[in-house]
Amino acid sequence: MQHEVFMVTVVVCTAVFLLTAGLLVYAIWRYRARPGHMEATWPHAHGNPKLEVSLIAVVTLLLLIIAVPNIRVLFAASEPPDLDHALRIEVVGKQWWWKFSYPSLEVETANELHVPVGRTVVATLRTDDVIHSFWVPKLAGKMDLIPNKINHLWFQADEPGIYYGQCAEFCGPSHANMRLRVVAHDEAAFAAWVNAQQTVAQAPADALAQEGERVFQQHCTACHAVAGTPANGKVGPDLTHFGSRQTLAAGLLPNSPSNIARWLQNPQSVKPGSLMPNLGLSEAEITSLTAYLQHLK
Ligand code: CUA
Repeated sequence: MQHEVFMVTVVVCTAVFLLTAGLLVYAIWRYRARPGHMEATWPHAHGNPKLEVSLIAVVTLLLLIIAVPNIRVLFAASEPPDLDHALRIEVVGKQWWWKFSYPSLEVETANELHVPVGRTVVATLRTDDVIHSFWVPKLAGKMDLIPNKINHLWFQADEPGIYYGQCAEFCGPSHANMRLRVVAHDEAAFAAWVNAQQTVAQAPADALAQEGERVFQQHCTACHAVAGTPANGKVGPDLTHFGSRQTLAAGLLPNSPSNIARWLQNPQSVKPGSLMPNLGLSEAEITSLTAYLQHLK
């Protein structure tokens, strides 16, 4: 669809370019300086209404030939195909991370959006603070998240894999640190992921992670939720399945013990301006909290 519009535009523009460039070359050659011609005077022309009107008409016609299919495709492309089987998701932009939820599946996650391949995904997008822009270049164009407005976007991943994205509207000091990834699975793997997300993690069995859970309940519950525990904060990302995520801090760091420790020691050095405070935890507390967070698969 877009390809046809592109080709129409290329053909029209190429024809106009060849015609004007050809006329220019012809004029340069035809009226070049020749011995004996220097004194010749050409008659001065003062406008030619017929020629001007017909040129304007031709240009208008050419622009219409480009505009009509463009506008048609623009509107057609914003209509998602196969709405009946579409997966519906909600995207909420925050300074500086992404909340993704799947209302029909009762799943909520952050910064890593999992989708099935070959299925239309219809997203509603809104923001909790300032304007952000959801952009995963290989899947769809940009769509802004605007305060007090709900926008819509659809896309479909045709190949399994990871599609990288980034906030594309300046939204404060950590705008560049507001990354995301879309993980596309085949149907079976997606179902398995959903199943895992719907399951509440067991209480940790090993002593270190148990100690970490106590640290978590003491310091983290005002902002973060972990299903199946008293933690139900709504300020930061839901951490129920944090251990199953590939990254932390809105896609900035791979999810590893050393990076979790780095984040807990000084969030501001990783993501300047982040609402995540430096909790002033001891080395031992960070180690046990890391063990607990990794246990949350
Ligand atoms: Cu959010 Cu830039």
